[in-house]
Amino acid sequence: MTAKNGIALVTRDDDGVDTAFREDVLKGLKQSQKAIPARWLYDDAGSQLFEDITQIPEYYPTRAETEILQARGSEFAELIGPGRAVVEFGSGSSVKTPLLLSAIEPSAYVPLDISGDFLRAAADDLAAKFPGLPVHPVETDFMRQVALPNEVAELPKLGFFPGSTIGNMVARTAVDLLRNMRETLGEGARLLIGMDLIKDEQVLVDAYDDAAGVTAEFNLNLMRRINRELDGDVPVDSFTHEARWNDDFARIEMHLVAQENLEFSVAGTRFAMKKGETIHTENSHKFSRRTANMLLLAGGWEPQKRWLDSKERFSLLLAEAAPEKSAP
Ligand code: AVI
Repeated sequence: MTAKNGIALVTRDDDGVDTAFREDVLKGLKQSQKAIPARWLYDDAGSQLFEDITQIPEYYPTRAETEILQARGSEFAELIGPGRAVVEFGSGSSVKTPLLLSAIEPSAYVPLDISGDFLRAAADDLAAKFPGLPVHPVETDFMRQVALPNEVAELPKLGFFPGSTIGNMVARTAVDLLRNMRETLGEGARLLIGMDLIKDEQVLVDAYDDAAGVTAEFNLNLMRRINRELDGDVPVDSFTHEARWNDDFARIEMHLVAQENLEFSVAGTRFAMKKGETIHTENSHKFSRRTANMLLLAGGWEPQKRWLDSKERFSLLLAEAAPEKSAP
């Protein structure tokens, strides 16, 4: 797939295999701590399972962030002002984005997403809800610097990155993304970004290992995807889902744990795992006020304001791409 801006988004070989997926899986399974990048959790089935996760009782982040967006509209309007182009990193959900757009009177909405299907659905949805608002979707990999449509070139920008998706990145990747966002949006831009908070360990583990087993399905779906797309014979039923708190790095980790000694092949390569060995499939970093500010500063953004939900589980931060000042 090649987007309109010429960026090759997905490269497939003659058999239709996504070559980046195959490379990441083979490389990750050869490591001593097996690991597969979390972005591969989101095929169609995985994306649907993630939508289901946002509805389960234990998974508080979506509800907590929505509560902040609902409660703080007049403060957003005052601090951000009207007339900005809202650039959303990832296609907006049908709930969160309208709350922001109706609070701040923007001049344009620019959703960025690597999946053309999600992008078009989100753009159509928003255009129907806000009939007078120009919507300019861009099919792109938002982890890189993005050329925004000419129509918004002269408008001041507000980046919107809700959901604490920044927490799914290790610090180096998160800083690279924040710096690219700054380049994409330009000096004077603002960024409204969701970051989940460090809290009671059991609350966190339950949010990522729900009683109904939806998150377990989300994790195990990665093995099903490998079998389907990479000609694998991974015995999916011999793995169980585990969510564990890593206190040193303030993150929830998802793992798939082998329940017995296993052998399987993927794309023609044989792998063996011992009982109890794991495949690490996701990090979800949690933040304090200080670590959130530190991350924003490292990415070139000056923190301006922080809002919490009523149970103080989740934070939404406003930051500015301020010109560099002299510092001691
Ligand atoms: C998308 N991302 C912010 C979710 C999170 O909370 O880290 C993904 C997720 N993984 C398991 N449950 C939700």
